[in-house]
Amino acid sequence: MKIHNTHYRTIWPAGEGVRVIDQTQLPFTFATADLRSLNDAVEAIRVMIVRGAPLIGATAAYGVALALRADASDASLAAAAKALKAARPTAVNLAWAVDRVSATVAPLAPAHRAAAAWTEAGDIADADVEQCRAIGQHGLAIIRALASKKGRDSGPLNILTHCNAGWLACVDWGTALAPVYMAHDAGIPIHVWVDETRPRNQGASLTAYELGAHGVPHTVIADNTGGLLMQRSEVDMAIVGSDRTVANGDVCNKIGTYLKALAAHDTGVPFYVALPSSTIDWNLASGGLIPIEERDARELTHISGQTEAGALETVRIAPEGSRALNPAFDVTPARLVTGLITERGVCAASRAGLKSLFPEIPAAAE
Ligand code: MRU
Repeated sequence: MKIHNTHYRTIWPAGEGVRVIDQTQLPFTFATADLRSLNDAVEAIRVMIVRGAPLIGATAAYGVALALRADASDASLAAAAKALKAARPTAVNLAWAVDRVSATVAPLAPAHRAAAAWTEAGDIADADVEQCRAIGQHGLAIIRALASKKGRDSGPLNILTHCNAGWLACVDWGTALAPVYMAHDAGIPIHVWVDETRPRNQGASLTAYELGAHGVPHTVIADNTGGLLMQRSEVDMAIVGSDRTVANGDVCNKIGTYLKALAAHDTGVPFYVALPSSTIDWNLASGGLIPIEERDARELTHISGQTEAGALETVRIAPEGSRALNPAFDVTPARLVTGLITERGVCAASRAGLKSLFPEIPAAAE
């Protein structure tokens, strides 16, 4: 995707390691950060310099490579895998990427491991770009059909999204936003309702930033507004991403996604989830088994932003002494999902639906 007329991925090899876009500084400052060690990669994931399921997977893959450059022993590989997997627990792409790189390099002599891990990490990043591009094409067909049913005279197709599942969350393109970009580029009139996505505001800060940079008409709304807009027939479809989709089609995504899916179900709004296959956890039978990350209560009790004078500041919004609970994700049951948009096509959110697209996967969690 382009920022200031330059094409960027969110992660790319640079110098002694990889360079990433520092998402903690957006939308105010476009800055990059260099990750040169395992610890840099772990910290970047933990403090959310990088975030979004596919991107933390790619970052973790490079993290293994960086660890092996320093020490290619079996012990170093095991310690790197453990540290990276502990950085954030919910998005399965992280463990998936670490396991994939580990499995590639473990049989090799230590002298060859770092280079092989580096190549594997690059392949994971490249594959993510292609998978998101394919998700975009499949989602575009859905948007095109809904827009043509609505008719141009009835105004733009109104699409609601939650959190940030755009190119910043992936290596490029995005999952939920890839079809949006392609529809906009194809001249289909669309408008996006952007859930602010408390407490970290990935919608207001990142999704709005991305859509604005691409020229896609959008409006930021409070998280609680979507239901009203759906009741008023001002939402034509919802598309969100996923951090972990399990074998029965249950979908884990940013906290608040479930409530949007409930409202969509109640009002008959199609609710789609876009995800690459690296986000599917075939080993879990249902969504209740997914580990839900609990983040620092300070993300709720305080809020950060830019003052009129341009300074970045964090201020308290809850009383001193009030406790806060901050689970970062929730699970949307498959029955509330209209369809899963994957790189292989669109399927029902069910075991049978997933199997129809991925017949080669052995059913570990029957
Ligand atoms: O906590 P975050 O910002 O990493 O959460 C990200 C999301 O919930 C995204 O919707 C999800 O990772 C899908 S990204 C393509």
